[in-house]
Amino acid sequence: MADASLQRPEGTAEDWTIPQDWDRYSPAEHAMWDHLFERQAGMLPARVVPEFMEGLKVLRMTRPGIPHFDELSERLMKATGWQVVAVPGLVPESVFFDHLANRRFVAGRFIRTPEQRDYLQEPDIFHDVFGHVPLLANPVFADYMQAYGKGGLRAHGFGSLDSLARLYWYTVEFGLIRQGDALKLYGAGIVSSYGESIFALDDPSPNRLGFDLERVMRTHYRIDDYQQTYFVIDSFEDLLRQTVETDFAPLYPRLRNEPELATDAVLPSDRVYTHGTQAHARAKSARSASR
Ligand code: PHE
Ligand code: CO
Repeated sequence: MADASLQRPEGTAEDWTIPQDWDRYSPAEHAMWDHLFERQAGMLPARVVPEFMEGLKVLRMTRPGIPHFDELSERLMKATGWQVVAVPGLVPESVFFDHLANRRFVAGRFIRTPEQRDYLQEPDIFHDVFGHVPLLANPVFADYMQAYGKGGLRAHGFGSLDSLARLYWYTVEFGLIRQGDALKLYGAGIVSSYGESIFALDDPSPNRLGFDLERVMRTHYRIDDYQQTYFVIDSFEDLLRQTVETDFAPLYPRLRNEPELATDAVLPSDRVYTHGTQAHARAKSARSASR
């Protein structure tokens, strides 16, 4: 999403946006989108929150080919007043937050190569657009994203971006939601990944814990592998209530005095859906230790 240590590349506007240059995508790049789309759209309906599938439909993202940002923005604008704008890659935090606060979602325009099909470090257009944009058509989630942008600008001033970034990570990127007795996916980092879409719901390895704002903001996360813990919200309305209606100003200094929590921690106060075996994470660290 964002990085503080960046220089604005030549050819980018003051707000770091660039044209999408949709005409420049090759047939192979469109075919990569279609491949990734079909793989996810085939398995997601039973796993993802229905609002996500609804967003794909409303935004006409079910058509083949890499979506055109102007068309997406036109439909999004009608639904919730959001737009999608292209950026060269990571942008500084304040730029990222400012776009969100103004209901603009910044997306990378490049698409992964065949070698990167199942893993890439920097978010590409498939992650950014397939993963994030459908839920922006949902009014409640759309408001959450804008509030997060405003909160980011504020947290920046308090020097508390680390704890706020964890909230983004464990909701927008890797969030789960409870629907009746079932858990469903909504985080963009999960739904744009074939492997994690299965792992996050079905694998006995990760913890699945009820969402608690301060608890989440103290919890470290992994950027190199599937998450060791997922947090489960009760509804988008509830997420909005817990975050937008809480003034974070007194929270930041308090959080700084509390110990941070490991990626696999389970506390007596946690609402536990799954106490994970952590077998996946252990196997992975055993592999890298023997290398
Ligand atoms: N309520 C938060 C604040 O006072 C802002 C916020 C809203 C942060 C939603 C994240 C998500 O700073
Ligand atoms: Co993302």
